[in-house]
Amino acid sequence: MKVYSKRLEISQAVANLRKTSKTIGFVPTMGALHKGHASLIDFALEQQCDSVIVSIFVNPTQFNNKEDLKHYPRTLEADLDFLKPYGDKIIVFTPDAQEVYGDEVKSKDYNFQGLDKVMEGAFRPGHFEGVGTVLSHLFTIVKPDKAFFGEKDFQQLQIIRKLVEIEAIPVEIIGAPINRNDDGLAESSRNQRLTPEYREAAPFIYKTLRQVKADFSIKSIEDLKSWVIEQFAAHELLKLEYFEIADPHTLKSAKNDQKSGDFRAFIAVFAGDVRLIDTLALT
Ligand code: PAJ
Repeated sequence: MKVYSKRLEISQAVANLRKTSKTIGFVPTMGALHKGHASLIDFALEQQCDSVIVSIFVNPTQFNNKEDLKHYPRTLEADLDFLKPYGDKIIVFTPDAQEVYGDEVKSKDYNFQGLDKVMEGAFRPGHFEGVGTVLSHLFTIVKPDKAFFGEKDFQQLQIIRKLVEIEAIPVEIIGAPINRNDDGLAESSRNQRLTPEYREAAPFIYKTLRQVKADFSIKSIEDLKSWVIEQFAAHELLKLEYFEIADPHTLKSAKNDQKSGDFRAFIAVFAGDVRLIDTLALT
């Protein structure tokens, strides 16, 4: 397994792969790798990609909260061990901020047409501009044919689709299913920071989403939202930040009388100081 940290090296490696006209996939990550990331790499390899580039870079511009950036797990050695079984099917890119951004580590201004103003965007101002900026740089460096993103970060996935449309980046964006623990908790790098008590409580998030899905055809949207708020208000450990039922394409909040079309539930919850998100298609 080759590991490169310089943009020139990875560009050269990709150019070499291109000589044999291979389909090149890309899985960008911020490291602290877990089964969810592995499922995304496996998915990429299954989608006619001959090689997959996996990047590991904790992107400073997408953290609106300095403490969150400071506490974000950085486990490069363990990550490389984790990836070793993939051997030459993958190439790992581990740049620093200078390699990605040059001298100006700062976000571009984007107009994501409102997709970035709701849910995660409303609670994490500037977050998606940071995500868009880093991916714009990484796509330019790696030049993949296909790039893969987890539906776990569904809003991010839709914003990246918009990004490549806005910047006319020639890459196919593909969403992959959420990988979960046996108890339903979505895999996340942040799970490492949960104390045993919070870890035990956290599957309640997915359990609640499942119940919303089960009740979706019989309860109004308003009643479903109130029910979720009540569930978390009564919970001793977990604090709800938001719960939303929205159109998966526009991410606009569903209206109470609207029941036909596509809907998806979105949730953000604090387990102590660890912020967890999850999402589930309702239709
Ligand atoms: P990170 O949180 O490391 O996630 C990297 C990719 O893994 C994202 O596409 C994310 O949706 C996916 N992923 C995370 N948990 C998953 C799970 N349980 N099942 C399936 N996929 C999962 O998302 C980011 O990094 C960054 O914002 C990034 C896109 C790399 C830009 O900096």
